Amino acid sequence: MNNFTYKSPTQVVFGKDTVKEVGQYMKALGKRVLLHYGGGSIKRNGIYDTVIQSLKAQDLEIVEFGGVVPNPRYSMVLEGIDICRKEQVDCILAVGGGSVIDSAKAIAAGYYIENEDYWNDYFMVHKRPTQALPIGVVLTIPAAGSETNRGTVITNDQTAFKRSIGADCMIPKFAIIDPQTHYSLPAYQTACGCTDIIAHLLERYFTQTTNVDFSDRLLEASLKTMIHYAPLALQHPDDYDIRAEIAWCGTIAHNGLLGKGRQEDWGTHDLQHELGAIYDITHGEGLAIMFPAWMKYVYHENPTRFVQFAHRVWDVDYAYDKEEETILAGIEKMERFFHDLGLATRLHEIQIDERDFETMAEKLVLGRDHAGNFMHLKKEDAIRIYQLAK
Ligand code: NZQ
Ligand code: ZN
Repeated sequence: MNNFTYKSPTQVVFGKDTVKEVGQYMKALGKRVLLHYGGGSIKRNGIYDTVIQSLKAQDLEIVEFGGVVPNPRYSMVLEGIDICRKEQVDCILAVGGGSVIDSAKAIAAGYYIENEDYWNDYFMVHKRPTQALPIGVVLTIPAAGSETNRGTVITNDQTAFKRSIGADCMIPKFAIIDPQTHYSLPAYQTACGCTDIIAHLLERYFTQTTNVDFSDRLLEASLKTMIHYAPLALQHPDDYDIRAEIAWCGTIAHNGLLGKGRQEDWGTHDLQHELGAIYDITHGEGLAIMFPAWMKYVYHENPTRFVQFAHRVWDVDYAYDKEEETILAGIEKMERFFHDLGLATRLHEIQIDERDFETMAEKLVLGRDHAGNFMHLKKEDAIRIYQLAK
């Protein structure tokens, strides 16, 4: 196990009817609030009204800024920074999923970045912001894990790059998670969200760090939980207990805890972000396509770990003399699982052909030696993985 430090400072407020409490938590962050949200789902399902009432009950001043799209855009981040400066807001409330929260984080940090090229210096060259407006969250879709972590992923609509930055100053101060607010999610978004949660577990599970049995077991338990509850959520979208299991697992999957003491991978997320940057596809579906392909390409790098995955997570019989068969059976079961959730697991199913493989692979390694850690992926590796995903 590697040395590590661990801190997860976000106050999580979890459970039924907790959205009503948002005003009292927001009040601690400031008086003038930028209320940031997406394309309108919160107006249709009543979350917006509950939030407004709660903020007004605490005499907070509200500056509204809605319209965030999935794969949130840098142009909107710049607009948000301008609004925050002109309106002199004290804090930001993100009501939505990963896209809204990430947009809020980028605005919050960008607010303090002046006389610098925010996109190039930070998103492309990985300078870390040191200061941000305080952020609160009402989470409406369990998926990205952005509600308690330090990361934001933004798409530059001018250059078609999707890039992330991470800094402690962007970690939300609180996150309200009421699983009832997830009932209105369309089946497709539920499936994509669950797949993203699974992907966050897999990015940590596939490590070359040895002697990490405790976190292996935590990851396996979390994966088993998702494999059990994701199909149930599709069958019973308004079952509180099912939504609650997924919501809590989604936060824990990506708050940093499960990767402690081990080197994480993230090659598959990077491969998917290149797809998202060009084709604007849903993050979770992109992962359902890229993970099986990545696994088929890299399992030779540590077959023992892949056998363990097949056996402990997918209940594949452990055939000692047939290592490769065991591994491939595990990968196949996972791919079938994603497909049964209603997602594509091959690029042709979402009408993507090979014309951009070379460009995506080139962008993947731009400015760095390789992507991923389990296997160091170079440009040629990335092209072969995209080909396996065809
Ligand atoms: O925009 P509205 O109308 O609100 O609709 C949204 C959106 O269309 C809808 N939705 C959300 N809550 C709903 C709902 N519809 C009905 N009822 C509800 N309760 O769902 C759609 C997807 O929302 P989005 O926020 O895009 O989903 P998600 O949470 O999956 O976020 C995806 C983004 O997060 C990034 C992804 O790359 C992608 O851009 N990620 C962020 C990470 C992070 N910051 O740590 C890590 C992740 O790996 C990921 O990369
Ligand atoms: Zn993800």
